[in-house]
Amino acid sequence: MSTTVQSPPNSAPQVALPIHCTFEETEWRALARHWFPIAYSDEVVDKPLARTLLDQELIVYRTTGKQVVVARDLCIHRGVPMRHGWQEGDELICAYHGFRYGADGRCTKVPAQPDLPVPRKLCLETYACIERYGLIWTCLAVDSDHPTSIPDWPELEDPAFLMMHDPPPEWNATPGRQLENFIDVGHFSWIHTGTFGNRERPEVAPYEVEKRPYGFHVEYPYLAANSADSALGDSPTIQRWMAYDLHLPLACRLTVDYGEGRKHCIFDAPTPVSKKRTRIFFFIARNFDHHVPTRQLLDWENSILAEDKPIVESQRPEELPVDLSEEFHIRSDRFATAYRSAMKGLGLGKNYSA
Ligand code: FES
Ligand SMILES: [Fe+2]
Repeated sequence: MSTTVQSPPNSAPQVALPIHCTFEETEWRALARHWFPIAYSDEVVDKPLARTLLDQELIVYRTTGKQVVVARDLCIHRGVPMRHGWQEGDELICAYHGFRYGADGRCTKVPAQPDLPVPRKLCLETYACIERYGLIWTCLAVDSDHPTSIPDWPELEDPAFLMMHDPPPEWNATPGRQLENFIDVGHFSWIHTGTFGNRERPEVAPYEVEKRPYGFHVEYPYLAANSADSALGDSPTIQRWMAYDLHLPLACRLTVDYGEGRKHCIFDAPTPVSKKRTRIFFFIARNFDHHVPTRQLLDWENSILAEDKPIVESQRPEELPVDLSEEFHIRSDRFATAYRSAMKGLGLGKNYSA
């Protein structure tokens, strides 16, 4: 899939907060500078898709030239969401009075007064977007003085890797708690015993947390259980060489190396929908065993997610506590404590003691 970059022609330097914003203003602004996936590319085909990012209701669609447009889901004539309308060629048509909007957001036609010029200010508010890795990424408030970036995930542009995903689920959890669960190496042997967790190996050997320009790199070996119906042979256990690359604030690739060049990558990018609701872009890519049905592999990953979900949704407080005097940390939490400190540096998470 090609990459399309769209600059927002009509975004204000100080973007207004969404109506009914559930975030505090400082938190919203700290998050809105970053890029988040809002849809898989194959979800945006021939009709507009409604999605919410940071309480901002959005509409996502693809022009006939395959350019992706992300706009505020609101026609400013009478405040009607564009999701009620439809697409004709490169234009979106509002359902209420038929105003037509082009890919740059400008209104091109007001059917009730075709004899008058269309006011220049009559626009849909559009947002910066990038289509890459089979995902559509959006940033609500590009800060040109301190630009942020999307992760570098070359496997997703390597034809040797097959990418697989299901529709992105929503959880009643904060993205910080969900991401931290993804990088938590101490819970495998406890809640994942229905999939890969090995209850016989609960100890977590010391590991290093390496700082990188984008965030952190952690390598961790785990002697995982190997289920009887596994596609990885019939041994009861299997050594998983795992390498995490966490791209701050909320995206992580886990590369599981099964030896002999066999790599299975798991990607986790939780997108904040509202303060306590998160859409999870959780997908996989692997360069071996392409004969194994995609459905079988996704069902396996979904069962792992299903083991995590009730735990993460029940964590209290919901927001990631970023002051290290909150909660209790053990040696195996080094990755999490590094993450919390970095989130605090970005003005994210919750500092309960402040
Ligand atoms: S509300 Fe959209 S055209 Fe009137
Ligand atoms: Fe887990």
